[in-house]
Amino acid sequence: MMKDRKCIIFGITSFAKMIRYYVEKYSDLEVVAYTVDRRYKECDMFDGLPLIEFEEIEKKYCVEEYSFILALGYKHMNEIRKQKYHAVKAKGYKLENFIYPNTSQNYFEIGEGNIILENVTLAYGVKIGNANIIWNGCQISHESVIGDFNFFSVSSLIAGKTVVKNSCFLGVNSAVRGARTLEDYTLVGAGCYMNDGSKPYGVYVPVRSLCLENKKSTDML
Ligand SMILES: CC(C)(COP(=O)(O)OP(=O)(O)OC[C@H]1O[C@@H](n2cnc3c(N)ncnc32)[C@H](O)[C@@H]1OP(=O)(O)O)[C@@H](O)C(=O)NCCC(=O)NCCS
Repeated sequence: MMKDRKCIIFGITSFAKMIRYYVEKYSDLEVVAYTVDRRYKECDMFDGLPLIEFEEIEKKYCVEEYSFILALGYKHMNEIRKQKYHAVKAKGYKLENFIYPNTSQNYFEIGEGNIILENVTLAYGVKIGNANIIWNGCQISHESVIGDFNFFSVSSLIAGKTVVKNSCFLGVNSAVRGARTLEDYTLVGAGCYMNDGSKPYGVYVPVRSLCLENKKSTDML
């Protein structure tokens, strides 16, 4: 279906194809082309649409008429998405947010270039920066502040008044206790519960089956 607003997707992975599906089904944007850096372009079409070298994109799609969706994942702790966010902006294009329609949208601020999928709660007073990816089922609780270039895997949970700075990765089903701060480039492993804040570049994993010494189950339940 032809739509008035047209965009280009950066990326050619299965994630990029999935994002095209969501954007075309649930937004007022039509996807007209995909783009990647010249060295990754091996053919002229992708997913039935033209595949254009990013270096040449403005020759075919002018900045006044076309905007961008960043469909780039968490590789190298989100660095590729960060670089391309800056590269797209340097060319003068607008970056679109994609927000799934059933998202609970009680945030106070949101930047650009974010992707937010199904069943996400952005609770009262949340602030969100740029180029974050928030997968389905995530809960960003009240008054939390999310910086730029973070990746929230399925069902990750940020309790209230928490700060997630920039370029962090939260694994599936991870949780951060309220009023804590995750510093830049924190990696929270799948299923991890963050009782405290984090160190920059810190890697956190859940404790494996810890047996409490001097305790018996019958004493506790
Ligand atoms: C944390 C994580 C990144 C580690 O990945 P990995 O490097 O492949 O994991 P490995 O099992 O090789 O572990 C690396 C090291 O950490 C140690 N480690 C991992 N988990 C641990 C745990 N729970 N407790 C103690 N040590 C642990 C390993 O023993 C290993 O140590 P070694 O190098 O001395 O042998 C991974 O477990 C994870 O949580 N990934 C995120 C998955 C996810 O949510 N994906 C969603 C994508 S949409």
